[in-house]
Amino acid sequence: MTLQSTGAALAGDDELRALAPWFHNLHLPDGRQTAPDHPLGDFPAFKWEQIAPHLPEDMRGVRALDIGCNAGFYSLALARRGAEVLGIDVDPHYLRQAEWARRQFGIDEGQLALVSMQVYDLARLSGTFDVVLFLGVLYHLRYPLLALDVVSEKVDGLLILQTLTMPGDQVEPVPEDLRLDERHRMLQPGWPKMAFIERRLEDDPTNWWAPNRACVEAMLRSAGLEPITSPGHEIVVARRSGAQRDTSAELRAIFPR
Ligand SMILES: C[S@@+](CC[C@H](N)C(=O)[O-])C[C@H]1O[C@@H](n2cnc3c(N)ncnc32)[C@H](O)[C@@H]1O
Repeated sequence: MTLQSTGAALAGDDELRALAPWFHNLHLPDGRQTAPDHPLGDFPAFKWEQIAPHLPEDMRGVRALDIGCNAGFYSLALARRGAEVLGIDVDPHYLRQAEWARRQFGIDEGQLALVSMQVYDLARLSGTFDVVLFLGVLYHLRYPLLALDVVSEKVDGLLILQTLTMPGDQVEPVPEDLRLDERHRMLQPGWPKMAFIERRLEDDPTNWWAPNRACVEAMLRSAGLEPITSPGHEIVVARRSGAQRDTSAELRAIFPR
């Protein structure tokens, strides 16, 4: 290593440290990692390994949306496959990390746009996306079903959803109707349920909800998205079914066009 390149590497290390703390362990082109001691392991690379086979290797011409993009691990992975990506997040700290990482990978803004935006703001964004990633965000939202309705309108292909869940993987067929005196059926393990977290979960006050698996699938269906497969724990791949109840009047009341 020359003196000059040693200096450049040190400057890069300073930048990486200045941008800490990192939630995403990015593997940078020069071999460094942003969070090598992540408590979850090599996160989210191990989750990407489960998701990646469900997306085309060559994503040129594909429009992708990454909601809650954080430091951009997934956005960068999609862009490196050739997709044109919009990554959105509400946290300026994470967006700064993602911008820095984008430059490290030599990806231009035309291919990966990083924008400060609430998931609900998508209701005012025109156009749809071939691939939408909605990973690790749903349970952080106070209004999860509203968000799913908004997100659903943006999906013109696949949605990949990941959420924290409550224990219980059982899924029972949902009845067409339920009589008032049959409400005990809601206590069955496979009934769609979502636990409300009034205070904190893992010391995080932004963890609002923990749905069970049946509830994740039911909410997706209710928002017009058909679950196709689950490539890993708490991950669902879904596609637009167009079979949801018409909630457009409520949505337009909340987000007038
Ligand atoms: C648990 S992290 C998940 C990050 C990444 N999607 C992943 O799965 O590794 C949640 C991310 O969602 C962002 N976020 C939280 N609420 C949001 C909202 N209402 N709209 C957009 N992003 C949000 C947070 O800033 C954070 O970057």
